[in-house]
Amino acid sequence: MSGAMFLQRAQVRVEESLQQAIAQCQTSPRLAEAMAYSCLGGGKRIRAALVYAAAHACQAGPQQLDQIAAAVEALHAYSLIHDDLPAMDDDDLRRGKPTSHIAFDEATAILAGDALHSLAFELLAACAGEYISSKQALQMVQALGQAAGAKGMVAGQMLDMAAERQAVELPALELLHTHKTGALINASIQLGALAAGDVSQQQLTALQTYGQAVGLAFQVQDDILDIESDSATLGKLQGADLARGKSTYPSLLGMEAAKELAQELLEKALLSLDIFAERAVYLEYLARLIVTRKS
Ligand code: IPE
Ligand code: IPE
Ligand code: MG
Ligand code: MG
Ligand code: MG
Repeated sequence: MSGAMFLQRAQVRVEESLQQAIAQCQTSPRLAEAMAYSCLGGGKRIRAALVYAAAHACQAGPQQLDQIAAAVEALHAYSLIHDDLPAMDDDDLRRGKPTSHIAFDEATAILAGDALHSLAFELLAACAGEYISSKQALQMVQALGQAAGAKGMVAGQMLDMAAERQAVELPALELLHTHKTGALINASIQLGALAAGDVSQQQLTALQTYGQAVGLAFQVQDDILDIESDSATLGKLQGADLARGKSTYPSLLGMEAAKELAQELLEKALLSLDIFAERAVYLEYLARLIVTRKS
């Protein structure tokens, strides 16, 4: 299967899985509507694809992967809803539509985010059963918790807010980016690997190196696109980083050096995959996509 086909399949599968999970939430209709609004029918689904690609590399069976992919995309959707709130980036456009707090209201947006966050952990815990052991499921819950919370994404978001209209040094920017974006990307890869019962330490280490490189590269490219793309292609407001005085790679290093860094990170990611031989095919495809994507 080609990389493009693999991604498309991941997109279809995770969409179905998310749809089912939200449909099963017996909750306030308005809350369910807001959850579906931000979670379904959009997004590149790169984190979901990374789950499937890492699982393929580690020869995990297909069971429960849809649920794991849905968990990371639910967590990601929550992070976007909260990232767009007036108290944070105050953005009006996301995935080509009004952001949640514009389409609904701030309280509903906050609660839809909260609900998607909880749903992610519920989905992972529910993986325990015939194919995934309770130990594996617990490891997944722990990995996602660490990546999403005060040691990971939330810390990155905190650093991001503090760095607005501030001059930051390169190590501080790297710390910010690897936390706010890299952590969840890295966790998506780890979760795919954990779905395979018997992953070697060498394989895990290789995936860590890959995950750290593509996780950082993802945000470097996001920063580049904020300058070079347009709102219609991005589905979010172009130039928003500049308008808010965000600390970004192009603003600190200049555009050319930011692009060079993205290439270096791609090479580092690809080199780390040798151990998986041809089973790394989809991880390779996604690493290239992460630094060449236009949206
Ligand atoms: C946007 O992530 C937020 C960042 C971490 C930069 P994506 O670019 O993956 O957003 P979707 O899911 O495709 O909308
Ligand atoms: C978002 O970073 C990271 C998280 C949502 C955790 P950005 O603020 O750069 O993402 P966009 O550009 O709004 O998608
Ligand atoms: Mg932000
Ligand atoms: Mg933002
Ligand atoms: Mg951005």
